[in-house]
Amino acid sequence: MKFKLSALAAATALSLAPMSHAGEVEVLHWWTSGGEAASVQFLKQQLESKGVTWTDFAVAGGGGESAMTVLKSRAISGNPPTAAQIKGPSIQEWGDLGFLASINDVATQANWDNVLPTVVSDVMKHNGEYVAAPVNVHRVNWLWANPEVFRKAGATIPTTWDDFMVQAGKLKAAGYIPLAHGGQAWQDATVFEAVVLGVGGAEYYQKAFVEGDMDMLNSDTTVKVFDVFGQLRQFIDANSPGRDWNVATSMVINGEAGMQIMGDWAKGEFKVAGKNAGTDFVCVAAPGTSGSFTFNVDSFAFFSQSDADKSEAQGVMADAILSTEFQEVFNLNKGSIPARLGMDRSAFDSCAHDSMDAFVASSQTGGLVPSFAHGMAVSEAVAGAIYDTATNYFNSTDSAETGAQQLVAAISAAQ
Ligand code: BGC
Repeated sequence: MKFKLSALAAATALSLAPMSHAGEVEVLHWWTSGGEAASVQFLKQQLESKGVTWTDFAVAGGGGESAMTVLKSRAISGNPPTAAQIKGPSIQEWGDLGFLASINDVATQANWDNVLPTVVSDVMKHNGEYVAAPVNVHRVNWLWANPEVFRKAGATIPTTWDDFMVQAGKLKAAGYIPLAHGGQAWQDATVFEAVVLGVGGAEYYQKAFVEGDMDMLNSDTTVKVFDVFGQLRQFIDANSPGRDWNVATSMVINGEAGMQIMGDWAKGEFKVAGKNAGTDFVCVAAPGTSGSFTFNVDSFAFFSQSDADKSEAQGVMADAILSTEFQEVFNLNKGSIPARLGMDRSAFDSCAHDSMDAFVASSQTGGLVPSFAHGMAVSEAVAGAIYDTATNYFNSTDSAETGAQQLVAAISAAQ
């Protein structure tokens, strides 16, 4: 009896061992819409199944501006979270300030250099060491459409900006809101970005909006971009100011509006509503952008910890994020595609397949460009200058020439 009891105690201790040592993570993110919440919930479950306690630090607000403000105040007060959703060049900025912890041992062990595309892995490293783990690749240049609305209005889904104006006019005449939109600066910038790419092409986009080439920014193409962007004012509804992006998506889902221009996190909302790609909703590249891909990689960066258990938990989290199971389930919910290469595509829908194909094809043609509206391309200062100009212009009756001049002035002041 004595033996039996101690064997049971030992077995219990063994089975609890990983649980009691795996530590805890406090994770800052801004994933609060239906599709986003389902995605983050899966990460939480994965960690809890490995004995890591999850403390949720969600700061609502699409695009993450509010989350970044809160993160800065926590970090400045010496109390950063264990991990935070930080993207693109900001990872370097946080690394330069000395806040980030290396997860290079985990990354080396799991061979991240070989399972991630370099366009992704480069961004995850600071001074050559991994400090962040990528969860996905979002394509931003998408147009989401309700095919029934188009059918009822006798319209066809546009693939060029010229045709967009014609088809949107038909939707409007039939009593629908042509373009579901939320009047928030980051959403204005997201639509503006699609227009830049569709009107100017990938080379113009890259030179003007990633490299800040003043000759390109001062060209007639920029005036044309503002002209097309300004024409969209007539196709949104009067209630758009302040509207959240997922509310705009629901207007397409319920047939109140015909289209939305938004990254593929919008697909997460269609999924949560039980809608299927190709029948209930259609995804096409934003007008004029079918050969291009504005990428937006979500990632978690890890903050330096003095507590060894917390550091260990960071390693568990990083390792879980790159697992094939996580990359599949998370991205099915989130609307994005896996960051990890060589994944089985069979569970993914036609929009994800299009995205996967476009990612590979555009990387060979120069059409793969970082999203400036989603923190992947330029410093916060330059991104802020673009946001301000795009949103001020969209909410004004300014001419395209004025919009272009203001953009040039704002970018040169911020660079
Ligand atoms: C993020 C997405 C998020 C979207 C809306 C983007 O900047 O990359 O993960 O779903 O903002 O909040």
